[in-house]
Amino acid sequence: MSTRAFVIGHPIAHSRSPLIHGTWLKTLGIDGSYEAIDLDPAALGNFLDGLRGGAFAGGNVTIPHKEAVFARCDSIDPLAHTIGAVNTLVVGRDGLHGFNTDYMGFLGNLDQNAPGWSDGLDEAIVLGAGGAARAILVALRERGVGRIHLLNRTLAKAEALAASISGPFRPAPLDAFAALAPRAGLLVNTTAAGMHGNPPLELPLARLPEAALVTDIVYAPLETPLLAAAKAHRLRTVDGLGMLLHQAVPGFEAWFGVRPEVTPALRAAVEATL
Ligand code: ATR
Repeated sequence: MSTRAFVIGHPIAHSRSPLIHGTWLKTLGIDGSYEAIDLDPAALGNFLDGLRGGAFAGGNVTIPHKEAVFARCDSIDPLAHTIGAVNTLVVGRDGLHGFNTDYMGFLGNLDQNAPGWSDGLDEAIVLGAGGAARAILVALRERGVGRIHLLNRTLAKAEALAASISGPFRPAPLDAFAALAPRAGLLVNTTAAGMHGNPPLELPLARLPEAALVTDIVYAPLETPLLAAAKAHRLRTVDGLGMLLHQAVPGFEAWFGVRPEVTPALRAAVEATL
């Protein structure tokens, strides 16, 4: 029988996940499908109950369902538990298992595009303290980064986030950047600033060390104003599209039994839709 997977969200039309998983199914010659399902929050409970019938091997969960699904799984992976949100579901005989692959997406992207980036990385700066920042903090903690400065427009949110996850997190306001930058080997933007339609943050990037790596989880536009400014200062950069591609890998492997690869051809196919 053909294996089926899904992505649920509301709205869902913008999701690139069907293209990513559909490309892998085709190139790997797997008899399976990956369907986008527009699911109103009021219908979530019924949908999850229905999954227990086994029609789907699992699927992805996107906005606005990540926290609600988290609350309804039968088991939650420990790191998804720390992140507080589920973006990947695996249906087993014993129920619904929740994972969060965003932190793996972040790590997979940097490992592929800036190999060795975390070797000896003592200090990092993360901009933003929303849901996306949580997964990044977990990822950087997993790699043993010594000190992680969490800078946010609203300091209280950075303080609350840092207090909710154990790790070497130091909350600070955005204007602390200038003082902290000279020791930071990595700068990560997780805020919506610089996304299409949003003005970018103005940061003195020249204060970062020459070897610093700058990455943005925003991928529309692919070259955000932050990445363009970092390039102008001759800093290394990695864009956010790879995180989207790499977060899809563990789910595909769990549902279809083959670990897929993030190839230049896959990237080009998704890039063409941005
Ligand atoms: P997500 O789940 O994608 O991380 P979110 O929870 O809404 O989204 O978080 C958005 C983050 O971007 C927040 O840290 C927000 O800062 P505040 O906590 O001060 O609201 C940050 N952000 C959004 N727009 C911003 C802007 N123009 N300048 C600075 N920070 C911004």
